[in-house]
Amino acid sequence: MRIVVTGAAGRLGSKLMTLLRGQGHQVTGVDVVGEGVQTLDITDFAATRAAIGDINPNVVIHPAAWTDVDGCAREPEKAIAINGFGTQHVAVAAAHIGAAVVYVSSNEVFDGTLNRPYREYDTTNPINPYGYSKWVGERALAQVNPKHYIVRTSWLFAHGGKNFIQAVLNLAKQGKPLRVVTDEVANPTYNDDLAEAITRLIVTERYGTYHLVNEGSCSRWAFARYFLDKVGLVDTPVEKIIVAQWPRPSIPPTYCGLANLAGKQVGIQLRPWQQAVDAFLEAEGFLA
Ligand SMILES: NC(=O)c1ccc[n+]([C@@H]2O[C@H](COP(=O)([O-])OP(=O)(O)OC[C@H]3O[C@@H](n4cnc5c(N)ncnc54)[C@H](OP(=O)(O)O)[C@@H]3O)[C@@H](O)[C@H]2O)c1
Repeated sequence: MRIVVTGAAGRLGSKLMTLLRGQGHQVTGVDVVGEGVQTLDITDFAATRAAIGDINPNVVIHPAAWTDVDGCAREPEKAIAINGFGTQHVAVAAAHIGAAVVYVSSNEVFDGTLNRPYREYDTTNPINPYGYSKWVGERALAQVNPKHYIVRTSWLFAHGGKNFIQAVLNLAKQGKPLRVVTDEVANPTYNDDLAEAITRLIVTERYGTYHLVNEGSCSRWAFARYFLDKVGLVDTPVEKIIVAQWPRPSIPPTYCGLANLAGKQVGIQLRPWQQAVDAFLEAEGFLA
């Protein structure tokens, strides 16, 4: 297949580039900046349409986004411009040439008030500007291009980038006190597992909405406790706090686990999050 990956210099985008090329696809990566990628700012409609039109892909995989949730809270219009209308631009450009679009979205399109994990077609109701901007992207894509996959995910941890696991382990190793929330719940998801699942989804042509996360959800506290214990830091204390004690510009939805029903229909299910964390820690050399 001919494939365009947006945000190709980012964590998920770069992993997708490697995997798809390894599978023999003809892949072009685009991003605002980055080594080995074609320069494209998706907020520029004319440039987006020209770039996608010239490459003429069968599928556009679209993880490009402004992912700084607190930045989005401080500048909500910029968030909508990139995550919302940037996605509309990608959707229109792809529709014009008959290409499908995979849009990588977030569990933060939900409000976190349901008492069970969210299913793919549960009602969305974003409560912060990042979630709202991702929701605008979902809506725009669904309205513009019927050949779409909306892939929601949560709490990505990736090699080589900023992530929660590295941040907590660094603090623990410096002997800094750890305070982690117990009332923010989601699915820790390994970037590499998600990328692999997306490469399988694009050949199904089963368009729709998917929740691609590692199986099972937990609180941020339980997540931290799990990997600290795994690397042998069993005696490192982690104070339990609640979201209200950790004020930040972006208020996260609290109980926001995702259930994968649609993916299982097409044979795509990610391993349990604990196994994925083990694989990540092993690859990083933490379990040696
Ligand atoms: N990380 C998570 O925990 C998480 C959770 C749920 C959903 N998601 C979604 O998953 C997707 C991938 O996340 P990620 O962690 O791989 O993010 P990432 O590493 O921040 O990658 C996003 C890429 O998009 C680029 N970008 C930003 N603005 C752009 C623009 N105007 N035009 C073109 N490219 C632009 C970024 O460039 P700069 O770095 O230069 O800005 C970056 O290279 C995102 O859509 C995100 O919303 C992530």
